[in-house]
Amino acid sequence: MGNPDRFLLAGVMGWPVMHSRSPKLHNYWFEKYGLAGTYVPLAIKPEGLKTALRALPGLMFSGCNLTIPHKQAAMAIVDEVDDVARKIGAISCVVVRGDGTLFGTNNDCYGFIQNLVQEFPDWRADAGPAVVIGAGGGARAVVYGLAERGAREIRLVNRTFDHARKLSTEIGGPIAVLPWQERHMALSGAALLVNTTSQGMIGNPALDLNLAKLPPTAIVADIVYIPRETPLIGVARARGHRTINGLGMLLHQGRPAWKAWFGIEPEVTPELHALLAATIPQTWQA
Ligand SMILES: NC(=O)c1ccc[n+]([C@@H]2O[C@H](COP(=O)([O-])OP(=O)(O)OC[C@H]3O[C@@H](n4cnc5c(N)ncnc54)[C@H](OP(=O)(O)O)[C@@H]3O)[C@@H](O)[C@H]2O)c1
Repeated sequence: MGNPDRFLLAGVMGWPVMHSRSPKLHNYWFEKYGLAGTYVPLAIKPEGLKTALRALPGLMFSGCNLTIPHKQAAMAIVDEVDDVARKIGAISCVVVRGDGTLFGTNNDCYGFIQNLVQEFPDWRADAGPAVVIGAGGGARAVVYGLAERGAREIRLVNRTFDHARKLSTEIGGPIAVLPWQERHMALSGAALLVNTTSQGMIGNPALDLNLAKLPPTAIVADIVYIPRETPLIGVARARGHRTINGLGMLLHQGRPAWKAWFGIEPEVTPELHALLAATIPQTWQA
C-alpha cells in the first residue's frame, strides 16, 4: 500500500466528463477501505491534455483514468506504455511513478473479461465462436481480451469493413473479418455475441441485428451501459439468453487501477453494482 500519511488522489480526464460514473465508483472504494482520499472528474480539453497529465505528479495524484477523447492522444504524452496499451492502441489508465514519470496501461480488456468471468463462472473463451460487432476502441479491448483468453474463433463484423480489417491486422489472433451485411448469418453456431458499437446507447438507434441464428445457449454481452438494458439485451433476454451489460466492465476496469495507484485490489460487489446501476436509466425509452 502507498504511504498511509498521504491523502490519496486520482481522477478521470475527459471532455466532457461530468457524466462519468467513475467518481462514484472510486469514492465508494475510498470509503469502503477506510482510506483518506478522493477521486475527481477533470474536465480537460484536448489541447490541454499534455499540461494536465504533466501536472499530476506536482499535484500529488497517484494517477488518473482517461475517457473520450483522450485515450489515443495520451499514448504520445506518457513516458512509457505497456504491451496491452500498445496493442489496443489506447490508454485507459495513467500511473504516476515514484520518480514523477507517467506510465500508461489499458484496463478495459481486463474489465470486460473479469465481468464475464464473475457473472458466468462457467464461461470459457474457447467454448465456441465469438461474434464481435464493432471495431472501435471498445472492440479492440474486447477482441484483445478474448484472444488472450484463448478464443479459437472471433468473427468480427463492423459497418466499415476497413476499420475491422485494420483492427485484425494490428491486434492479431484468430479473427475472421466479415462484411456488415453478413452480421445476421455470422451468429450461426456462436457461443458469445458482443456489441461494442455505440448503437443502443441512449440517443442512438438500436443495433440492427437479427438474433434468429444465435443458438439459445449463447451469452449476449453489450459493452454499452447507458441504458442498463439496451434493445439488444432486451431482445436477447426475451429469447432466453444469458445477458450482461457494460456496467460490470466499467467497474472491473477500476480494480487494477487501484492496485497500481494505492496497492489495493478492491472488490466489485453486488452492493457496488446496484449503487452505480441506480444512477442509470433502465431502458432505452426511459
Ligand atoms: N463498459 C465499458 O467500460 C465501455 C468501455 C469502452 C466503450 N464503451 C461503450 O462502447 C460504445 C462504443 O465506444 P467506443 O469507444 O468503442 O467508440 P468508437 O471507437 O467511436 O467506435 C464506435 C463503433 O460503433 C460503430 N458505429 C457507429 N455508428 C454506427 C451505426 N450507425 N451502425 C453501426 N455501427 C456503428 C463504429 O463503426 P464504424 O467503424 O463503421 O464507424 C465503431 O465500430 C460506447 O457506447 C461506449 O460508451 C463501454
